[in-house]
Amino acid sequence: MQKAWYYEEYGPKEVLKLGNLPLPTPQHNQLLVQVRAAALNPIDSKRRQRPIFPSDFPVVPGCDMAGVVVAKGRSVTKFNIGDEVYGNIQDFNAEGRLKQLGTLAEFTAVEESLVAKKPESLSFEEAASLPLAVQTAIQGFETAGFKAGQTIFVVGGAGGVGTLVIQLAKHFYGASHVVATTSTPKVEFVKGLGADEVIDYRKIKYKDVQEKYDFLYDTIGDCKSSSVVAKDEAPIVDITWPPSHPRAVYSSLTVSGENLEKLRPYIENGKLKPQIDPTGPYKFTDVIEAFRHLETGRARGKVVISVFSSPNLLHLVSFESKNNLVPEVFSQKMSVY
Ligand SMILES: NC(=O)c1ccc[n+]([C@@H]2O[C@H](COP(=O)([O-])OP(=O)(O)OC[C@H]3O[C@@H](n4cnc5c(N)ncnc54)[C@H](OP(=O)(O)O)[C@@H]3O)[C@@H](O)[C@H]2O)c1
Repeated sequence: MQKAWYYEEYGPKEVLKLGNLPLPTPQHNQLLVQVRAAALNPIDSKRRQRPIFPSDFPVVPGCDMAGVVVAKGRSVTKFNIGDEVYGNIQDFNAEGRLKQLGTLAEFTAVEESLVAKKPESLSFEEAASLPLAVQTAIQGFETAGFKAGQTIFVVGGAGGVGTLVIQLAKHFYGASHVVATTSTPKVEFVKGLGADEVIDYRKIKYKDVQEKYDFLYDTIGDCKSSSVVAKDEAPIVDITWPPSHPRAVYSSLTVSGENLEKLRPYIENGKLKPQIDPTGPYKFTDVIEAFRHLETGRARGKVVISVFSSPNLLHLVSFESKNNLVPEVFSQKMSVY
């Protein structure tokens, strides 16, 4: 058995319970990962609150993780036991059901194609903060065809996605000028991410912004109002559903390990920096408190959970397993947690 957060009915964060669930068994193309850190995303809350896509209870929430490979299926070729990996495990089968239980657990099973090796320069917490948000951020630029040299206006510069949109615009996509919005207490933080100009939305309305921009990237679904800052033919990206303006292009993330791998040089040279909300990282036992903070809508960067902090436990067990099953001794040791 393993410790995991799960729910058996839709509802507020109080439906979440911490308890014992069976260890997932990795399929032939999957890794079993000991989760060392996980990150929350608004989709984890939305999916818990109502049936956005079909779910079999119990649901273990969580898409993002960083951890250590402890077992692997027969057809896994890219990773070995002991590798440190990270990724967004959110993947659906043909019926639209999620293939995996989530990452707010001691272990998760995930297709090798969805993860990448964790950059050594990142802690598990920093790595876990990236996948879903950065995959979303990248996809918006790609979907709407951002071109190097364009100016960009980012709505929601302090959020999980917005912090990465700013950094990618500046260092990956070659924006000539990056403007981002946030509230008064976060202005200096957003400047520190590399924005050339920060607009405090408590003081300045979109309609009062003088300049018009080549590309509008709205991360909060405010395009109905924010579209006034876009030039006439400028692409407008909305990552919320349904898009909030007829001109807005809805962009959804692409889940893969490859898009994380592409970012490795930018992570290693410090151009792309994970942003962990300062109230965290939260302890594994404090997941409800972490959701409470996420659901205020005021998180700064990513809300991160340290899932399992005792690397020594890894050495207590043998990882040799037949038929991809984790030895019983392993699960017994883990239940000491
Ligand atoms: N399409 C996809 O594939 C996809 C993927 C990921 C996320 N999403 C969606 O995208 C949205 C954002 O996700 P996220 O992870 O970035 O959320 P988040 O981290 O929870 O966003 C919180 C941030 O939003 C900012 N914010 C709130 N109201 C604002 C306003 N009026 N103007 C400027 N900033 C404002 C807050 O800054 P202040 O405190 O300064 O206001 C806070 O820093 C969510 O609805 C999420 O479900 C979609």
